Amino acid sequence: MNELLSLKDKNFALSGGTGTLGGSIAQYLIENGAKVLLLGRSEDKLKSKQTELNTIVPNSTFIFKVDVMSEVDLKELKNKIKADFDHLDGLVNLAGGNIPGATLKPDQTIRDIEMNDTQKVVDINLFGTVTPTVILSDLMVEQGYGSIVNISSMAAKQTISRVLGYSMAKAAVDIFTKWMANELASKHGDKIRVNAVAPGFFIGNQNRRLLTNEDGSFTERGNSIIKNTPMGRFGDASELNGMVHYLLSDASSFVTGSIFDVDGGFSSFSGV
Ligand SMILES: NC(=O)c1ccc[n+]([C@@H]2O[C@H](COP(=O)([O-])OP(=O)(O)OC[C@H]3O[C@@H](n4cnc5c(N)ncnc54)[C@H](O)[C@@H]3O)[C@@H](O)[C@H]2O)c1
Repeated sequence: MNELLSLKDKNFALSGGTGTLGGSIAQYLIENGAKVLLLGRSEDKLKSKQTELNTIVPNSTFIFKVDVMSEVDLKELKNKIKADFDHLDGLVNLAGGNIPGATLKPDQTIRDIEMNDTQKVVDINLFGTVTPTVILSDLMVEQGYGSIVNISSMAAKQTISRVLGYSMAKAAVDIFTKWMANELASKHGDKIRVNAVAPGFFIGNQNRRLLTNEDGSFTERGNSIIKNTPMGRFGDASELNGMVHYLLSDASSFVTGSIFDVDGGFSSFSGV
């Protein structure tokens, strides 16, 4: 691989690294010579992912029990990274997602909105990205370089029916990405960058029920998404790897504050 795209000997922290998209990205990064630091709440899931990844590339994967909503956990993590790793080249904020109580059922109206669940979803998707970014970017400021990649969504740009909290949070992730990019580049130099990837629809544990029936056929919503995706299919988790690679590497050295769709054309199609 050429130098511009080289990930060799780089250290990347990934929240949500045991999830569907995070797991795929973590494996891709280690296969390209990087080390990954997986952040998650479940020790069992972390250990099992570490074993899986270290079997593929020995000594490539390190795990940290961290709740991305906890400033205490994250400050402790920052100190551990500083003590045990020479540098942190990047952070990918994948922790997030929707919860059933924050999605209206087809026959429900605004009177049925569950404020508690809506707020929980805003918290995890927004502050679960803001808090690790603010705390861990401090390491990047000290060392003078680093790339942060946030995960947005199609729900940030246009309404996705019945999904309120998740949409509000991901729209806020977009503006946070731009704000933080401006703040870091203008005050701490042109080598600290913040961008976001907006995935289209990828079937994972969180949305499988919403998009597919038990027999594997698509639900009405699944069909409607496919109809509005010019490529006519859902994404495969591996199809985010290339964009994340580009943003974490020096190939994107003049790119900051941008949001990149990886969506099979969903966001550029009018539906007509
Ligand atoms: N799958 C899709 O189609 C899709 C589309 C657009 C955006 N996204 C976004 O991509 C990201 C990853 O999604 P996924 O499909 O891999 O979901 P996933 O559920 O497989 O992974 C999310 C991970 O985040 C972790 N997490 C949640 N709260 C946490 C917390 N407080 N602290 C630490 N970890 C926490 C979960 O344990 C899980 O491992 C999410 O932000 C999601 O919103 C997914």
